[in-house]
Amino acid sequence: MSDGRLDTDDVGGATSPRLVVEIVTLFPEVFTSFLQASLLGKAVSSGLISVERTNPRDFAPGRHRQVDDSPYGGGPGMILRPEPVAAAIDDVETRRGRAYRILLTPSGRLFDQKCAADLTARGHIMLICGRYEGLDERIAQIYADESVSIGDYVLAGGEVAAAVIIEATARLVPGVLGCGESVVEESFSVGRLEFPQWTRPPVYRGLGVPDVLLSGNHARVARWRRREALRRTLLRRPDLIDRYPLTEEDRALLAELDGIA
Ligand code: 6GU
Repeated sequence: MSDGRLDTDDVGGATSPRLVVEIVTLFPEVFTSFLQASLLGKAVSSGLISVERTNPRDFAPGRHRQVDDSPYGGGPGMILRPEPVAAAIDDVETRRGRAYRILLTPSGRLFDQKCAADLTARGHIMLICGRYEGLDERIAQIYADESVSIGDYVLAGGEVAAAVIIEATARLVPGVLGCGESVVEESFSVGRLEFPQWTRPPVYRGLGVPDVLLSGNHARVARWRRREALRRTLLRRPDLIDRYPLTEEDRALLAELDGIA
């Protein structure tokens, strides 16, 4: 290929996908434009990534295909019944094989970059989206390999969380990213926020660009970027410094910062 991207044949995408994603959702249409856009859309249409959506409502009995009911013990809202969700999961796996099953819920384990890398490595994942006030606990007990949350806030359902997980895992599949260097670059800076970046014009609304970035001195640029990444992390995410402690080099860079602001 002439555009710098890997040809799907080079990575085996034309024959079998590198990542297979099953989405179990009452709102499959939510994902339509998301799955068609940008690099993810290309990865799906080239066969590098395979995504299938399955709706539990298609497995609900009766004319009304009701998937929910009121909670035992009382309280507001409706709870998803276990049978249609179980039937959707079974149907998918009968056709496509056993997947690593992830239940999306605000009470799950917090999703992060390592979690994304682990899921990419599994190669076949199922994202089960809850809705309404919740999902009958027996689905978690019987089916879920793991329960995952994307952050400490409450969404109306798991669909947006599933989209987050798909984007984070898909871009780690070899051949999906436009620029092959990007993922390597990121892992170099684990536990630190990204450094700030600029492009043309050199002055915008009276604001310029740091001189060092215009210097052409790659070693100085690299050192400046590490220092600025560290500055941001200290100011905005001190919890990351606790989890990924300062190295000797970090301490030397920090000595260049007056105070931390
Ligand atoms: Cl996975 N689901 C819902 N409903 N809310 C969330 C979430 C998931 N993660 C954070 N908030």
